[in-house]
Amino acid sequence: MLELFPDTARIDVGELSLGGMRASGLAGQFGTPLYVYCEATLRGRAREIRAAVPDALVFYGSKAFPNVAVLRLMADEGIGADVSTLGELALARAAGIEGEQLVVHGNAKADEELRAAAESGATVVLDGDEAERAATAGVRRVLVRVTLGVEADTHEAIRTGHHGSKFGLPPDHALRTVEAALALDLEVAGLHIHVGSQLADTSGHLETIDLLARFAVRCRAELGWTPELVNVGGGFGIRHVLEEREAPLGELAAEVAEAVARSWGEHGLAAPRLMLEPGRALVGQAGVTLYRVLNVKRLDGVTWVAVDGGISDNPRPELYGARYTALSASRADQPATETVSIAGLHCESGDVLIDDVSLPPPRPGDLLAVPATGAYTLAMSSNYNATPRPAAVLVAGGEARVVRRRETLDDLLALEVW
Ligand SMILES: Cc1ncc(COP(=O)(O)O)c(C=O)c1O
Repeated sequence: MLELFPDTARIDVGELSLGGMRASGLAGQFGTPLYVYCEATLRGRAREIRAAVPDALVFYGSKAFPNVAVLRLMADEGIGADVSTLGELALARAAGIEGEQLVVHGNAKADEELRAAAESGATVVLDGDEAERAATAGVRRVLVRVTLGVEADTHEAIRTGHHGSKFGLPPDHALRTVEAALALDLEVAGLHIHVGSQLADTSGHLETIDLLARFAVRCRAELGWTPELVNVGGGFGIRHVLEEREAPLGELAAEVAEAVARSWGEHGLAAPRLMLEPGRALVGQAGVTLYRVLNVKRLDGVTWVAVDGGISDNPRPELYGARYTALSASRADQPATETVSIAGLHCESGDVLIDDVSLPPPRPGDLLAVPATGAYTLAMSSNYNATPRPAAVLVAGGEARVVRRRETLDDLLALEVW
């Protein structure tokens, strides 16, 4: 199962190591739960997509893990940032990302957010009748987000390009928005689509790209305007469990780039510049969560292994039925002879991280490693049950550095007023 882990994962003398750091050392030094990110894997995925689509502009979908150190690392690899809140914008700017390296999204943007976007020189993706507010805020360059009615093959909560989605504008409305933005003298640089997330193939992208080319033809005919940029969003999936299909980022991105060039050519349009916004595919596999086993209960029919985290640091299993697997990090070479369920510590029966996984007979104190947890975990974490959020560390070459410190009880108390 090491293929689900970061590229530097090894089993050394029975123990998992990441970036040259032993799991027990990381847990001892930084505590658990701990989010461990592998720098080599982050850089590896960034280079993979840049090499596959060298002419495209790539933006990290920072909602997957909005973190200044990771944003800086991406910027270092020539990757900008896609942000969708004032907070994500602040983190990206703290990482030194500004101007054309920034794309600002949101289906509900406050004036304050539009002003901050304008100040940063970002490209703003219009998603509603907000052209005038954007222009008043000082925004110069915009894209228009279009929804073309494609049902991507993924969980409904992360499907975004279908009819009835809260995101984007159906063609007639999008056309009116392009027209309104042009009338306001905004630089309408192009169009945006995002089909959905955790897609194992590009069928949803390809269907949408063809419809988008048809929409571009309509824009040319009715408005005399053609998009110079086409932002195809993110959505490239990763493998969380061995049964899931592999989705090699470089191949998927190249297929999308070819599809844009082909569809635009077939419709007699000049090839636009491609923009991509992968989130999960850049950071998902780079991240591993380390949990400490607190309790083992062997009940009729199920062995419950309760760990020191749960839905507060990873709500995806409860939200989407997301599947994960786990490895006994401290006894990685022992035969996995017992089938167990991994429970979180929270007061919810649904707080089950993994339904069914085989481990060496578990005991309290064991260290468990859950791979492919770099995306939409800490990013979606909460303080449920007044639980401080875990730390995140970046590992490389036998060293680890904290990139997000662990919250403390004092942090929680600091928000209380009495
Ligand atoms: C507009 C937009 N771009 C990019 C992304 C990143 O998606 P993913 O993490 O699936 O690549 C999302 C995710 O929801 C999004 O809404």
